[in-house]
Amino acid sequence: MSHQLLKGKKGIIFGALDERSIAWKTALEAVAQGAEITLTNAPIALRMGKINQLAEMCNAKVIPADATSMTDLETLVQQSMESLGGKLDFVLHSIGMSPNVRKSIPYTGTNYDNFLKTLDISALSFHRVLQTLMTKDAMNEWGSVVALSYIAAQRTFPGYNDMADAKALLESIARGFGYHYGFAKKVRVNTVSQSPTVTTAGSGVSGFDAFLDYAEKMSPLGNASADDCAKFCALLFSDYTRMVTMQNLFHDGGFSFTGVSTPLVEALTANHQG
Ligand SMILES: NC(=O)c1ccc[n+]([C@@H]2O[C@H](COP(=O)([O-])OP(=O)(O)OC[C@H]3O[C@@H](n4cnc5c(N)ncnc54)[C@H](O)[C@@H]3O)[C@@H](O)[C@H]2O)c1
Repeated sequence: MSHQLLKGKKGIIFGALDERSIAWKTALEAVAQGAEITLTNAPIALRMGKINQLAEMCNAKVIPADATSMTDLETLVQQSMESLGGKLDFVLHSIGMSPNVRKSIPYTGTNYDNFLKTLDISALSFHRVLQTLMTKDAMNEWGSVVALSYIAAQRTFPGYNDMADAKALLESIARGFGYHYGFAKKVRVNTVSQSPTVTTAGSGVSGFDAFLDYAEKMSPLGNASADDCAKFCALLFSDYTRMVTMQNLFHDGGFSFTGVSTPLVEALTANHQG
């Protein structure tokens, strides 16, 4: 159901790879809510993914950008403003990648070149995006920039490896930059800490299926889906959250504040008895 929450607003959505991507769902939701958008992803993802299908559905231009390249980001922001006909109101950073996770290199024996890549792609890229937006004065006042995070930033989930450190840095950048962008231009910067979700990035984490099940049993509302996350992002882009900034907002069905749950205890008890 559309409430036209984003009518007249313009934005950039990073990170839609295929129809499971949280960014894919958010792009569709933003457009359904009346926004105009451009879509972007790393050049290699554009070749391998299905972004052109999404672009057609959203009537959106696709502009390639490696989020670790300042030149690419400058071109992206410039071309987005030209194509959309003005400054931006929202940006979604939905980017994550760890070469250590991909190569199953354990955290305690990390490869530091890989580790630096993880931090660059998954966290510093957020600072790069924000800096590019600010330098180009590309955001309208009361605009909203959102990045996606995970609770491994606060609590240890061993399979999440160096992505946990990247998420801690990502959330810190939201606070650090949010302060400056708020005073400078009244732009809000937040992270959304999402439930485990079946996507290409999510499924790459070791033991993913088990902790999907664990989180489902631990969350009073169950795991939040990518569709739910898209709606929450649309709300954060909208004027209904104008005074929310520098926050990490848990969008996880209550997982983050649950110590233990009856369904989990029952499952473990059944295990003991069986
Ligand atoms: N899936 C989950 O369980 C889960 C849970 C919480 C948070 N998140 C976060 O949500 C975000 C989106 O992930 P997703 O689950 O939709 O998976 P996804 O694999 O669909 O999206 C990840 C995206 O990052 C892009 N990317 C990687 N390197 C890039 C680069 N150098 N430049 C530009 N883009 C690059 C990929 O091309 C891909 O589109 C990530 O930040 C992820 O950590 C995911």
